[in-house]
Amino acid sequence: MEFRKRPSISWDMLGGRPFRLWRYKELIPIPDDVQIISLGEGGTPLTKLVKSLDQLGLREAYAKFEGVNSTGSFKDRGMTVAMTMAKYLKVPLVACASTGNTSASMTAYASRAGIKPLIVLPKGRVARGKLSQAILHGARIILIEGGFDNALRVILEVSRRGIVYPLNSINPWRIEGQKTIAYEIIDEIGDPDWIVVPVGNAGNITAIWKGLVELKRFGLIDELPRLAGVQTAGAAPLVRAFKMGLEEPLPVENPETIATAIGIGRPVHGSRALRAVRGSKGIFLEVSDEEILEAQRILARYEGLGVEPASAASIAGLKKLREEGIVDRDEKVIAIATGHALKDPDTALLHETTSYEAKDIREALTLIQRLTSA
Ligand SMILES: Cc1ncc(COP(=O)(O)O)c(C=O)c1O
Repeated sequence: MEFRKRPSISWDMLGGRPFRLWRYKELIPIPDDVQIISLGEGGTPLTKLVKSLDQLGLREAYAKFEGVNSTGSFKDRGMTVAMTMAKYLKVPLVACASTGNTSASMTAYASRAGIKPLIVLPKGRVARGKLSQAILHGARIILIEGGFDNALRVILEVSRRGIVYPLNSINPWRIEGQKTIAYEIIDEIGDPDWIVVPVGNAGNITAIWKGLVELKRFGLIDELPRLAGVQTAGAAPLVRAFKMGLEEPLPVENPETIATAIGIGRPVHGSRALRAVRGSKGIFLEVSDEEILEAQRILARYEGLGVEPASAASIAGLKKLREEGIVDRDEKVIAIATGHALKDPDTALLHETTSYEAKDIREALTLIQRLTSA
């Protein structure tokens, strides 16, 4: 594969450190004299699924585990590039609306860059791990009623008035960073048949498609993989539009799902995502919250991968695509596992467990003896 051999910037240019995502700097159209704001994002594992393959009905599948990025989600890829540009442009204040992960990422990178962060979050709909990250990094936080879509409207308005520099995925630098997921996948295992992506605001799937199309244009891949965009039954504006042959998302008022990261009713990149999925001869499909929890359990207990609910949606979607015969048993599939399980401890705690209580060491030992001799 030629791609891996492409000349890349030397580590020396970046202070001698292995900036994993930044090895693709030549393919990210930023000025040469930027000071890169990085927390070591990218270079995430493409974990081959082994013990869950039977349940998924596949022979070869991988999870691209984005949960190991520095703040625990794929958002760090776009954020390193966008924050680098924010610093370059000398903006004093960055802001975003978020279902949680963008704000966790933005606040960390803002701290690194020395820029003040402001975030607008949907009240009561942000998983605790993500909220705690934003608090830890010192963001000013506005909690708004009415879900993510309202939060984004606020950010769009204050950006239009020039009050803040927006770091939602409407910022094109975010997409430039996020497209590197596609580069890494192709670099590592050549072109897969399918890439399955959980979809909320649709920035990620749009970015992945951009990355793939660029690689094809450069002659680095022959075939474009098919994209499957997965939404949840309670927040499926793109699935509905896809089925009806529409070019714009069909908005959902009050989206509800356990996968709060993708509980979005009016995806900003909706029409681009519809074009991307259709262009790839792919599909949009929805899964239920129960299917998401089941997929989260499978990944955690059969593969050792702890992912948050939105990420498990890609595995739930993959399972469904196989059951419906859309993906073939022999096809090579990548599921994007977008965020870490620690992001949403409350959902992780919903899974069934066996736990016992012991008053003291003696009681604990007796208990273990009884349990292991059974
Ligand atoms: C864990 C996780 N998965 C998936 C998504 C959806 O990504 P996008 O909004 O780019 O479609 C998000 C967005 O916040 C997320 O945090």
